[in-house]
Amino acid sequence: MNFVSNTGRHRQRITPSAGRLSGKAALITGAGRGIGRAIAVRFAQEGAAVAVTDRDFGAANDAASELRDSGAQARAWRMDVTDRSAVETVIDEAADALGGLDILVNNAGIIVFGSLMDCKPEDWNKIMAVDLTGAMHCTQFAARRMIRQARGGRLIHIGSTASLLPTAEQAAYCVAKAGLRMLSRMAAMELVKHGITSNLLCPEGAVTDINRDLLADPAIMSKLESMIPAGRMATVEEIAALAAFIASDEAAYITGGELVHDGGATIGALWWR
Ligand SMILES: NC(=O)c1ccc[n+]([C@@H]2O[C@H](COP(=O)([O-])OP(=O)(O)OC[C@H]3O[C@@H](n4cnc5c(N)ncnc54)[C@H](O)[C@@H]3O)[C@@H](O)[C@H]2O)c1
Repeated sequence: MNFVSNTGRHRQRITPSAGRLSGKAALITGAGRGIGRAIAVRFAQEGAAVAVTDRDFGAANDAASELRDSGAQARAWRMDVTDRSAVETVIDEAADALGGLDILVNNAGIIVFGSLMDCKPEDWNKIMAVDLTGAMHCTQFAARRMIRQARGGRLIHIGSTASLLPTAEQAAYCVAKAGLRMLSRMAAMELVKHGITSNLLCPEGAVTDINRDLLADPAIMSKLESMIPAGRMATVEEIAALAAFIASDEAAYITGGELVHDGGATIGALWWR
C-alpha cells in the first residue's frame, strides 16, 4: 500500500510489511462506515489483513474494495451481529480466508435516544441485541478460534463515555455500553491465560451517521463542544489510531482496561473556560 511518510529529507514509502500489525488478521464488525471503517483503514495501513463485516453488505463491500485498491488484503462479509449462527459462520470463514484471527473489534452499534422513564421495551431490546448481545456472540466465537490457534489475540470493544457516565436521553444505550464494559472485563479475566487481551475504548464522540442528524443542529453541536475541554469532537481517524495501538504487540500488557478518548470530557471539572 502506498502510504508516504514525510520525515524530513528521508521521504519514504511505508509498506504494510513495515506496519505494527503486519502478519495479523483482524475482523471488524460494523466496518462499512464511520468508526469501524476508519479502524479497517488504519489496520490495513498497519499491515493487517482485514475482514470488513457489516449488516449492510454494500457498505462493507465498498470499504473492502477501497482497501484492496490500495494494495491491502481485505474481504467483505455480510454479518448481522444479532444473528448468532451468522456470526459463527462468518468468523470461521474469515479466519480460514485470512490465515487465522488475531484481532476482533466489536464496533457495530446503534442508538435510540430517550430517557429511562420513556424507554419502550422494543427499543431497549433492539439496543441490547446489537450493542451488548451481539458483542457477546462475536467475543465467544472469536476467542474460541484464538484459543485453538494458541497465538494470543486482541479483543477490542467500542464502548463510549456512556459506558462510564449516565448521559441524558441515552438511557438504554448507556446501560448497554456499561454492560459492554463488564463483558470486556470478564473476557480479560477469563482469557488472559491464553495471551488474549480485552479492552474497552470509550470515545466521547465523532461525527458519523449515528449522530449526524442530531449534530447538524448548530445549537446542539456547540453545546456538546462546550462540554469537551478540548473544544471539539474527535475524528474517526483519531479513534482508529488508539485501536491500532491496543491491537499491536506493544499493548500486550494492557488488559481489562478502559481507554477513554474524550478530549477531557470526563475529567469531572466543574468549569474550564
Ligand atoms: N460516533 C460517536 O460519536 C460514537 C461515540 C462513542 C461510541 N460510538 C460507538 O462507535 C461504534 C461505531 O459507531 P459509528 O459512530 O461509527 O456509527 P455508524 O452508524 O456510522 O456505523 C455503525 C455501523 O454499524 C453497522 N451496524 C449496525 N447494526 C449492526 C448489526 N446488527 N450488525 C452488524 N453491523 C451493524 C451499521 O450498518 C454501520 O455501518 C458504535 O458502537 C457506537 O456506539 C460512537
